[in-house]
Amino acid sequence: MEEKIYLYPVWVRIWHWINALLFLALIFTGLSMHYASINSYWIPFSLSVEIHNICGILLIINFLFFAFANGFTWNGKYYKIPRKGYFSALWKQIVYYSWGIFKKKPKPFPITKERKFNPLQQFSYIVAMYILVPLIIISGIGLLFPEITIPKVFGYSGLWLTDLFHQVMGYALTLFWIIHLYFCTIGKTTTSNFKSMFNGWH
Ligand code: HEM
Ligand code: HEM
Repeated sequence: MEEKIYLYPVWVRIWHWINALLFLALIFTGLSMHYASINSYWIPFSLSVEIHNICGILLIINFLFFAFANGFTWNGKYYKIPRKGYFSALWKQIVYYSWGIFKKKPKPFPITKERKFNPLQQFSYIVAMYILVPLIIISGIGLLFPEITIPKVFGYSGLWLTDLFHQVMGYALTLFWIIHLYFCTIGKTTTSNFKSMFNGWH
């Protein structure tokens, strides 16, 4: 039998589920604003703006908590890319997911207390949490305070470009989220990773 490992401390779980709920609210209200017209909408326009703004600010606070806590706890180590051999490890994991897993080959990087994420998982979490989320936050702040946004860039409205960028980051994060959900189902059983994120134990 595989050994039980405590991998998700309480603060990670609380941060994660708050982040997931805010993310869903932001996608839903963001899309509702995007596709709203005078007489057709999912949520009345001004209400979606209000919910989006409040959830956006809560997401920023939650993100700062995550970044700060990762900077001062053991969990941050899982987000550090090793100096040597990372790309060959990444490639090994890609080959495993595209071929080995279907042939029931052993995992190239089994989970241990020292290695919570496999190289591909680590890569996707770093891109989502340290690139895409900060960029959606910065562009969101630009939309929230239009007076600080650059008025014109090569003849185009700075606000329009910021909005476009914000939307592209929204789609990129939605793509991350769908892939994230798929990979979360490839645990010992389909639901075991989800249970781990509630009880902390792998
Ligand atoms: C996962 C995170 C987020 C997603 C998926 C998302 C998505 C969207 C989408 C789709 C729109 C509509 C754009 C349009 O149709 O022109 C939008 C607008 C906007 N977003 Fe976000 N957003 C996110 C996070 C944030 C954050 C962190 C803030 C910052 C506080 C923010 C502030 C805004 C603002 C100010 C607008 C313009 C509408 C308004 O006045 O509320 N968003 N967002
Ligand atoms: C309904 C939405 C979501 C569900 C059901 C979900 C599910 C899970 C599960 C089961 C895990 C543990 C398995 C693992 O380590 O990979 C996990 C971890 C993680 N998820 Fe999600 N997730 C959701 C949304 C999100 C979103 C929106 C983000 C980021 C924008 C995100 C970022 C992460 C990160 C960074 C971890 C690793 C945390 C750590 O241990 O340090 N998740 N998620």
